[in-house]
Amino acid sequence: ESPVTVPSLRQRKARGEKLSMLTCYDASFAARLESGGVELILVGDSLGMVVQGHRHTLGVSVDDMVYHCAAVSRGARRPLLVADMPFQTAASRERALDAAVRLQAEGNAAMVKLEGAGHVLDAIRYLVERDIPVCAHLGLTPQSVHKFGGFRLQGREASAAEALREQARAVQDAGAELLVLECVPSPLAAEITAELAIPTIGIGAGPGCDGQVLVLHDVLGVTPGRRPRFVRDFLQEGGSVEGAVRAYVAAVRDGSFPDAEHSFA
Ligand code: KIV
Ligand code: NA
Repeated sequence: ESPVTVPSLRQRKARGEKLSMLTCYDASFAARLESGGVELILVGDSLGMVVQGHRHTLGVSVDDMVYHCAAVSRGARRPLLVADMPFQTAASRERALDAAVRLQAEGNAAMVKLEGAGHVLDAIRYLVERDIPVCAHLGLTPQSVHKFGGFRLQGREASAAEALREQARAVQDAGAELLVLECVPSPLAAEITAELAIPTIGIGAGPGCDGQVLVLHDVLGVTPGRRPRFVRDFLQEGGSVEGAVRAYVAAVRDGSFPDAEHSFA
């Protein structure tokens, strides 16, 4: 099958094709993700938690991201490779460009992901004008953990929901070609998805998004501690790593994941 490209993302949405994304941090798992059929691989800064063992993602460096991204890129060719921009790399245009160039040139990422809107819109525009495709990330943005006081559902009150709708329009207008929505009520994520031309990828955002993303360690049931509500252990049903990936991709495609039990009303 031919590689998944950035320009194909809007077409896939227009055709109503569901997009499956999983996180990945090394070449061996990347090969399983590819044979399991995911369209998108995210080298997430969640690696600070699931690989490095920290309580949040704030300490992950550009070097860390480049290292893992390059490793993942050697293991898979077809899925579109998206890499997270570390904490505060969008604080200035120059920092954003430096980090994004390294993720593309050394890490082989096709697209970089930035959390938030506000001043981040300026960084999105700056990168997109320089032909670096951007994935936006709104809702529960884990790099804002200290502002939020923990990892919790966003966009609950009417005013917060309206603010999120505005941010979603703004990141699309700034040139983002993909939007991750994390931990927002399902009806809100569905409204935003209907309003935008670019695909939305949900995590804890209900079945109304154009695609889904989960952390690989959650899908395989190896993350220690309490399992978040929106996570399903696909290793149980899939029987092997590749089987788990296949089961996830199939469940996203046929709309059986996420169901109400794995979403927030
Ligand atoms: O770092 C990550 O894994 C992410 C996803 C949870 C969206 O940003
Ligand atoms: Na992330």
